[in-house]
Amino acid sequence: MKNYIIHDEWKIIENGFHKEENRVTESLLSIGNGRSGQRANFEEKYSGDSLRGSYVAGIYYPDKTRVGWWKNGYPEYFAKILNATNWIGINVWIDDEELDLNQAEVLSFYRDLDMKSGLLTRKFVAQMAGEKQIEVSARRFLSIADQEIGAISYSVKALNFSGKLTFEPYVDGDVVNEDSNYDENFWIGISQGVSGQSGFVCLETKKTAFQLCTGMNYKVQLNNESFLPDTNSIEREKYVGSRFSVEVKPGDEITIEKYAALISTLYHAKNKLKEATEKALKRATEKGFEKLLADQQKAWAKRWETSDVRIEGDVAAQQGIRFNIFQLNQTYLGDDERLNIGPKGFTGEKYGGVTYWDTEAYCLPFTLGTAPQMVSKNLLMYRYKHLQKAIENAEKLGFTDGAALFPMVTINGEECHNEWEITFEEIHRNGAIAYAIYNYINYTGDKEYLAPYGFEVLLAISRFWSQRINWSEEKKKFVLLGVTGPNEYENNVNNNFHTSYMAVWTMKYTLEAIDYLKKEHPMLYEVLVKKLKFQELKETSRWKKITKEMYFPYDFTRKIYLQQDGFLDKELIPASELRPEDRPINQKWSWDRILRSPYIKQADTLQSLYWFENEFDKATIERHFDFYEPLTVHESSLSSCIHSILASAIGRQEKAYEMYLRTARLDLDDYNNDTCDGLHITSMGGTWMAFVQGFGGMRVLNGQLHINPFIPDGWKSYSFRLNFREAHLEFLINRNQIKILNHSKINVDIAVHGELHQVPAKKEVTINN
Ligand code: BGC
Repeated sequence: MKNYIIHDEWKIIENGFHKEENRVTESLLSIGNGRSGQRANFEEKYSGDSLRGSYVAGIYYPDKTRVGWWKNGYPEYFAKILNATNWIGINVWIDDEELDLNQAEVLSFYRDLDMKSGLLTRKFVAQMAGEKQIEVSARRFLSIADQEIGAISYSVKALNFSGKLTFEPYVDGDVVNEDSNYDENFWIGISQGVSGQSGFVCLETKKTAFQLCTGMNYKVQLNNESFLPDTNSIEREKYVGSRFSVEVKPGDEITIEKYAALISTLYHAKNKLKEATEKALKRATEKGFEKLLADQQKAWAKRWETSDVRIEGDVAAQQGIRFNIFQLNQTYLGDDERLNIGPKGFTGEKYGGVTYWDTEAYCLPFTLGTAPQMVSKNLLMYRYKHLQKAIENAEKLGFTDGAALFPMVTINGEECHNEWEITFEEIHRNGAIAYAIYNYINYTGDKEYLAPYGFEVLLAISRFWSQRINWSEEKKKFVLLGVTGPNEYENNVNNNFHTSYMAVWTMKYTLEAIDYLKKEHPMLYEVLVKKLKFQELKETSRWKKITKEMYFPYDFTRKIYLQQDGFLDKELIPASELRPEDRPINQKWSWDRILRSPYIKQADTLQSLYWFENEFDKATIERHFDFYEPLTVHESSLSSCIHSILASAIGRQEKAYEMYLRTARLDLDDYNNDTCDGLHITSMGGTWMAFVQGFGGMRVLNGQLHINPFIPDGWKSYSFRLNFREAHLEFLINRNQIKILNHSKINVDIAVHGELHQVPAKKEVTINN
């Protein structure tokens, strides 16, 4: 765990240069606008340890798979969101010495990311050879008001010398992914050019043929007066720079305002890319840095209006929740159903940009609660559009008749994960995708989504479960063999409770969907039956049998469901007895030792109890929590949030808070020692869930919104906001009162601690807590 980030309600602050943590800080201070993301790399050269990263949504490369022992069914490639053209670069020379904070003496250093406006600021004083001191102030952002634009204001002041300052703003497309499997360069140069203070580089990805055009334009000021420099153009393959020098005396300051346009074939035709780049640059340059920043501040204020969470009395917790909300909002804006939310968003390469079950399980509740309904629908449509590919994926594994297995990892619907025990066996993901349909409809009331989109997906997933499950003559029950549950520290187990539960639940829910469609949309249902070759009687009678006669491993002594067959054969030594030097076990132990151990990576059986809370009584949830939590090592970022919510639900407030802080500050404090690779973006949705569903006790039951809030010790009050159906609501909770503000034009009924209250349109209601 690290604690060099300064606690502040709105800013993420590094004071003093923590060189050894540079990769961590680069991840933490990443900026993004849903279309692209940029790690907090320096504008000028830096020869120290750094992961340079610029990523553009949807631009990927199918990097050839690297495995030792090939298994039939493996995908040929692993999709990577590519590290793309460096648009931030400005090289600086003081006389003839290049500025590089790895070489210069750093006299003072400060950087922060202002979450109110998505603005990254850096200030430092550096001493060069001959004791020449310069003061640098840099600000930059990726605009969420105009998503094609990035802007930088970069000033250098000569503090104590007369001499020459030289600058080279540039665009550099000669970049590679650090995690490239075969050290390949994925980009081909298409065109480039530089003249005066403008330049551009257009590239194309190998194999996938996406094009990306990155343009720059800059303006210069000397002591706040505009200044026209004499420029030299610098060009090499995939690189354009524009160099100029200025003679300065002590106190003189040069400011460069650099505008960048990031234009891709996701949004423009190939033959219009250059034109679109020029247009975007013109827009940016005409507005200028300050006006663009004002637009940015306005756009962010709007985002915060529906998603902010406030805590009074705990700055660390406040910074944590805002950081999570901010990063999620930087990653996904929800206006393009081709895009999704990668576990690291645009903040690193590992898992970068590709889609996991994380989206449905951990991010959807956040978009449901804070964004317009369309945003959540787009997340569901992403999977609907991939349904055909999921059917083909299942066919490759031997399934037939329209059964679908959605991929563990994907960017275009094709599976690209390739560890057999996960690719072929971690099939609970199919359940998460079905559950998301239920979750969306339950929250929004948009039952129409079932016809046709939701139903088609549910049917295909139910068909998969039906074929994947077999009858055990020995047990006289249906069983689900050879799976990996969410706990990846167990592989190829039989009858994983969570996976089997998801399978049975999906079939039951699909049966309900059929009843609904037959009643409400009989004609459309008939069309679907034909289109999907659905043999209703035959197929559903097997599902019904399975739902009645499924086997779930159970311990009659402890009265708990077992994670899988044989779980009790393990030595059940609690994780608290592990030696500190053995943790995290995934970095310290052999895989063999991990697999035989009782240690659980993340919520597994407890994931079902969280999702299907209403199907278990409180004592049952407690028994399961008390058995599984002590064996859980929380080595997945997705673990603490589920434990926090369950702990809240059973009144373990201290545990709920401990788990909340762990998820909220996972990256800020680098709990798992891996923030250097990028941020845990999808688990940030889990943090929001832990807050709103955990502390706030928010649930939607049969269309009725419920809250059941408590305040963690030490907090004075907190508030959160919710979009619920047509309403926008704000909840303010202190030790004595719950105030609900209805910002919308309709009356809303809300159950508070089980009692129904009406909150009239545009009014507030105060209730004793
Ligand atoms: C977790 C998975 C998750 C993946 C991406 C893994 O460590 O075990 O559940 O989908 O990370 O976040």
